[in-house]
Amino acid sequence: MTEPVTITERVTVKIPGLERPYTFLHISDTHITHAYEHDSDAEKEAAEKQANVWNQADIFPVDAFSNVLEYADETKPDAILMAGDVVDYYTESNVKYLGEMLAAHKTECLYVPGNHEYGSYGLALPSMFDMRAKLSPLMTGSPEFWVRDFGPFLVVGVDDGTYRITPEQLARFKAATELGKPILLMLHLPIRSDVLSPYVAKSWWGSDVTIGGTFHGTDEPTEEFLALVKSEESHVAAIFAGHLHYAHSGEFAPGRMQYVSAPAFTRFVREVSVIPSLNKWIS
Ligand SMILES: [Fe+2]
Repeated sequence: MTEPVTITERVTVKIPGLERPYTFLHISDTHITHAYEHDSDAEKEAAEKQANVWNQADIFPVDAFSNVLEYADETKPDAILMAGDVVDYYTESNVKYLGEMLAAHKTECLYVPGNHEYGSYGLALPSMFDMRAKLSPLMTGSPEFWVRDFGPFLVVGVDDGTYRITPEQLARFKAATELGKPILLMLHLPIRSDVLSPYVAKSWWGSDVTIGGTFHGTDEPTEEFLALVKSEESHVAAIFAGHLHYAHSGEFAPGRMQYVSAPAFTRFVREVSVIPSLNKWIS
C-alpha cells in the first residue's frame, strides 16, 4: 500500500552554468525480493525470509521502494539515483520484478549495482557475465560503467560492487573526466576518505569497508581511480553511495561532499538539489 514519503535529508550541490535547478532523489539498499508462482520452494522461502529480515521500519522493502517510486511520480524529480543493493540477492525473479516495478513508473532511475546484486544466499548463482547481462537493461545497458549527460553536468555510474575498480572502468572514467563537465558520481561502496574511513572502522563494521579501505584492500587501478576522483581535474562535484546501512555526509576532498544513504527499507530518502553556482565550478 502506498504511504506518503518523508524526505529524510535535503542537500545542495552547486554547479556553474545551470539554466535551471535539478532535483534528484538519492536512495540505496532497498533490498527488495520477489518470487513468482513458478519459482522453486527454495526461492519462495528465500524471498519471504529476506523480506522479513529487512522489514526493520515496520514496512516491507518492496513497499518502501514502491512509496519512493510513487512519490517521484508525483513530485517529478529529474531522476532517482539508486546506489546499489536494490535487489537483496540475484535471482532472475528479483531482477524481473524490479524491472516491472520500474516500468510501472515514469521517473528515470539511474542504477549502479551493489555487492548484493552479485550474491545469492546459497541459491544457484549464474556467472557474473549472465548476471550483468540480466541487470544490464536496467542500467543503461552497461552495469560496469555508464554516463548520463544532463547537459551542464554528467551523472556517472561506476560498479564497485565487486570491491575493485578495473582498468577498463578507470579508462572510461578518465575519458568522462576529459569532457570537462562537473560530475555527480554514483557508487555503491563509498570511497576511502580521511573523514569517512575512521568513522566506518569505529562503527559496527569494525573495519574500513570503503573502496580502497583496509578491509577489502586495494590495487593499482583502484588507487588511480581514487586519486583522480579526489583531484580537481576530475570535476567530481559530489559522490552518492550506500552500502554502509547508515547515513553519512562528509568531504572526500576539500569542499566536495560524499553522501552515503541509509537503507531505503528504513524509509531513508535524500533529496539532492543541484543549483547554479555563480563563481567557481564547485562550492
Ligand atoms: Fe545493503
